[in-house]
Amino acid sequence: MKTTACLLVSLCCCSLSAAGEETESQTSQDSCYPDLCKLLKDFGVMEEKLRTTVEKLGVMETQLKVSENQLEELKNHERAKVIFSAALGGNGHTGPFDHDTTLIYKEVITNIGSAYNPSTGVFAAPVAGVYYFSFFYHAGGDHAHYISLFRNGQRMASSSDHQCSSDGADNGGNAVTLQLEVGDQVFLRLMANAHVWDSVNVTTFSGFLLSYV
Ligand SMILES: *[C@@H]1O[C@H](CO)[C@@H](O)[C@H](O)[C@H]1NC(C)=O
Repeated sequence: MKTTACLLVSLCCCSLSAAGEETESQTSQDSCYPDLCKLLKDFGVMEEKLRTTVEKLGVMETQLKVSENQLEELKNHERAKVIFSAALGGNGHTGPFDHDTTLIYKEVITNIGSAYNPSTGVFAAPVAGVYYFSFFYHAGGDHAHYISLFRNGQRMASSSDHQCSSDGADNGGNAVTLQLEVGDQVFLRLMANAHVWDSVNVTTFSGFLLSYV
């Protein structure tokens, strides 16, 4: 294509340089070359159009790739649904113990994604993201209540009440949003010498994936 263009350019230039001469051969050339020049101009316009079209296609290709990636991301997110709620279960007191104890919420109410383990009481993040957790307890007032939510080894939130002989029962709770990495563990501990109570799902631990990061 480039070679043809060069050839056409030189022909046209010839024609232009010879435009002033009135020879017989030049007259016949004039009747032919103007068409050639028009053709060359048209070709130039077409070439420019082709160039911009190719550029546009390149941009569209990039946009399509971005959309494809976003779609793939959405599909992955759709796969990883994480929502759970569990009650302590049992029938009565848990504690008091002389040491901090992980609370095992045995009574599963919801466990989409199975990230919460009702045998250990531990939630393990299956994907990195921001999670919301809440916990509520019920307990008699005759012992101290003190439960804390941990992320791995670190205490993140607590709920407590003092021991009181004139206090029939208490309810308490707390909630927290945590940014977790894959495998991070979240669980509740009943602190030493404290107790909680359950029989009708009044002491619960819930959480769900709020957003991906
Ligand atoms: C406690 O939760 C379990 C599991 O979802 C449910 O079957 C049961 O009816 C609940 N009990 C009460 C008293 O809410």
